[in-house]
Amino acid sequence: MKILVFTEKPFAAAAVKAIENAINAAGADLELVERGTREDLLKAVETADGLIVRSDKIDAEVMDHAKNLKVIVRAGAGYDNIDLAAATAHGICVMNTPGQNSNAVAELVFGMVIMMCRNQYNGTSGSELKEKTLGIYAFGQVGRNVARIAKGFGMKVSALDVFVKDEVIEAEGVRPLHAPEELFSENQYVSLHIPATPQTRGSIGYDLVMKMPKNGVLINTARKEVIDEEGLIKALREREDIRYVSDIKPDRADEFEKEFAARVFFTPKKMGAQTAEANFNAGVAAAEQSIAYLRDGWNKYQVNK
Ligand code: 3PG
Repeated sequence: MKILVFTEKPFAAAAVKAIENAINAAGADLELVERGTREDLLKAVETADGLIVRSDKIDAEVMDHAKNLKVIVRAGAGYDNIDLAAATAHGICVMNTPGQNSNAVAELVFGMVIMMCRNQYNGTSGSELKEKTLGIYAFGQVGRNVARIAKGFGMKVSALDVFVKDEVIEAEGVRPLHAPEELFSENQYVSLHIPATPQTRGSIGYDLVMKMPKNGVLINTARKEVIDEEGLIKALREREDIRYVSDIKPDRADEFEKEFAARVFFTPKKMGAQTAEANFNAGVAAAEQSIAYLRDGWNKYQVNK
């Protein structure tokens, strides 16, 4: 039995060791391909029973090459990089590892927020987070960690998630909201945690951003695809008080950076889950879930049911 780990962003060394141990303990073999080419992937996947990836694109062509593949585990939360319909058609189970890297992403939210409200440490006077309003868009694992940390800063926290009951949000000491318009108009800080789906792609743009209170800061550690970049550029032009931080460069990064320099910040590549801890937790969970599926058909986190 072979489990292929194919990642453009390699796991930390300790995580790779632990992944290998988990796979070997089940009597299976690990094939590790880091920063491989498309050709490397198509070749290595031919004989794999399980495949572990991060944001790496796995489409129908990859599955066509995989003669034995039964399970793909996305070591992380978002699975918009995997063609679920093709996986179902190929009889392949796709799982993610919910919660394993969420604290890392939530901490980065505040890393970027503080940098922005201290004016990118340029020596000028900034502002504090205490008693400021924060709206969390999607109250999943990352959103809940963001709420926990925000309360430590003394922020007033609210959240919008149509799939989560008000009582669940309230139980975390967070005020539930019911419409995006409310989220944007009532919060100086808005943190996005929605997945990239046909419904959410391009859904955050001019109208919503223009509703933000004075000195609004939009934080995106979700996916760049959820932003309508043209609409956001227009809003930033009309509202000189608004700032935008994103964990990954937008498609129009040059335009944003040229026109709004001090009001935007983008990580060079997606960094949210890039911590030793998140790598370890998500990587080991992915290895264990792959084994559990291959051995016992365990599919608790299957996303293409
Ligand atoms: C996720 O969806 O889990 C995060 O965006 C992290 O993605 P990564 O594993 O590619 O860093």
